[in-house]
Amino acid sequence: MVAKIKIDKAREFEFTEEIFDKIRQLVKLHTGIVLADGKQDMVYGRLTRRLRALDLPNFESYLSMIEQEDEEELIQLVNAITTNLTSFFREEHHFGYLKSAIFPSLLEKNAATRRIRIWSAGCSTGEEPYSIAMTVREFFSDYPGWDVKIIATDLDSNVVAKAETGVYDKARVDGVSLEYKQRWMKRGKGEYSEQVKMKKELQELITFKQLNLLHEWPIKGPIDIIFCRNVVIYFDKDTQRTLFGRYADVLADDGHLFIGHSENMFNVCDRFESLGHTIYQRTS
Ligand SMILES: C[S@@+](CC[C@H](N)C(=O)[O-])C[C@H]1O[C@@H](n2cnc3c(N)ncnc32)[C@H](O)[C@@H]1O
Repeated sequence: MVAKIKIDKAREFEFTEEIFDKIRQLVKLHTGIVLADGKQDMVYGRLTRRLRALDLPNFESYLSMIEQEDEEELIQLVNAITTNLTSFFREEHHFGYLKSAIFPSLLEKNAATRRIRIWSAGCSTGEEPYSIAMTVREFFSDYPGWDVKIIATDLDSNVVAKAETGVYDKARVDGVSLEYKQRWMKRGKGEYSEQVKMKKELQELITFKQLNLLHEWPIKGPIDIIFCRNVVIYFDKDTQRTLFGRYADVLADDGHLFIGHSENMFNVCDRFESLGHTIYQRTS
């Protein structure tokens, strides 16, 4: 019988379990993100780029920079660790529900102020808030005079900067209907012909900001609708509980919260009622 020998992949920098655990603790402390066992290769791959960029000899020296709270490097660490996967009209039924149920009910509920506030929390590169903005423009074209604004925030400063440009590769908008593309996007010309840019009518609805959801929020509410989709999946239950409680605090009475397809509020927060399809309404 041939003995199986487990060979560790040769690594440029030593990366022990102890180093991985320290990084995990720091990431949890600064972002709420829990890095599961088995994420060693991902963490190693993403952080070796930082070691090389900083010309550091090993992970110990990198860790001491982070432990001394080097602000700039903390941002880089966070940006390297976050998973920013997103797309236009992801979980499309949420946008359908906005148009068919929530916006019509807000026309009555907010008739006195004619004001609606929407928060895309964990907006990544912007596909989510721009999808909300298209839905807003489509619906409210029949209701001029309504003041609808979207605040879009993310922990990762790189994705916020990208979102703010409103520029995407053409392939990113493949799944968007031709009608919406023609109405809400501009095609690049010449050397930019492979890109599209969101129209000013969408951009002017959205304010982008870098924001760590674990920190204090400049957002006071009342917010009518919060999208926080595919963000808490990386948090432990206690962090989720605190966050959902804070969402309930800033939401208007009966305000809505959308979460991601693999997330749920069961045994986490009892201040919301489920309306099905990962849509929740604040009850207290
Ligand atoms: C997978 S993306 C989801 C994007 C979008 N909401 C969607 O569903 O398509 C998760 C985003 O959450 C952000 N995020 C993770 N931890 C965060 C925190 N503590 N505060 C704010 N944003 C955070 C990440 O930077 C990332 O862009």
